[in-house]
Amino acid sequence: MKIYKTKDYDAMSRKAADIISAQIIMKPNCVLGLATGSTPVGAYRQLVEWYNQGVLDFSEVTTVNLDEYKGLPRDNDQSYYYFMNEHLFKKVNIDKSRTFLPDGMEADSETACRTYNEIIHATGGVDLQLLGLGHNGHIGFNEPDTSYAKETHCVTLSERTIQANMRFFASEQDVPRQAYTMGIKTIMSARSILVVVSGEDKAEIVKTAFFGPVTPQVPASILQFHSNVTLVADEGALSQCPALFHSAK
Ligand code: GLP
Repeated sequence: MKIYKTKDYDAMSRKAADIISAQIIMKPNCVLGLATGSTPVGAYRQLVEWYNQGVLDFSEVTTVNLDEYKGLPRDNDQSYYYFMNEHLFKKVNIDKSRTFLPDGMEADSETACRTYNEIIHATGGVDLQLLGLGHNGHIGFNEPDTSYAKETHCVTLSERTIQANMRFFASEQDVPRQAYTMGIKTIMSARSILVVVSGEDKAEIVKTAFFGPVTPQVPASILQFHSNVTLVADEGALSQCPALFHSAK
């Protein structure tokens, strides 16, 4: 695993955007696996800026997102569909017919997950998968004790995740209890993975996930077994880790 330590959130975002744009430049028709949450927002902002400067072209890019809440309509401002449009899709020249997320409004979980797996397989596989990290080590919505063998599946969110995501909703009752998420098997199939983490509140889980034992209780720990993972994290997030990393401007 390659680890880049950055001074702060802005530098982390810039470094992550560097890596994503390098992928797009090297392979204009690449498949990007995208993530939501607050951490990648700065990287998306930087990519949009470079697009506006004429440096980046998204016209041949395909995207598949990690996850989506079950039961939230696409026009709900907390749906991940809405998030992706706001932060990236509507701001760049991506072909919207090549942007995919699980269908949160498909009530039948089996249909929703099977359809999404078929979409991912039909892309030919993810070239670069972007990931944030939950406080309990979740990636996508793969909560502790998840099976490593799953592709897209329906999950019941843990109490900790509901609490963490509550800040985006009017009240705790409004946070959906279930979500569709790419499984660990899907994530591990990506040709390369980029994890972004910021802030001291994530320091402990960064140490546990990337320097502790590989265990389903800490879903992100499996990333230690992937052959092409880059972690870009700021000083706060790396504050409990041994100093084994590169510094990034
Ligand atoms: C959510 C998302 C994850 C994300 C995580 C961390 O639960 N499903 O994909 O990585 O939260 O979010 P944040 O970046 O806001 O800390």
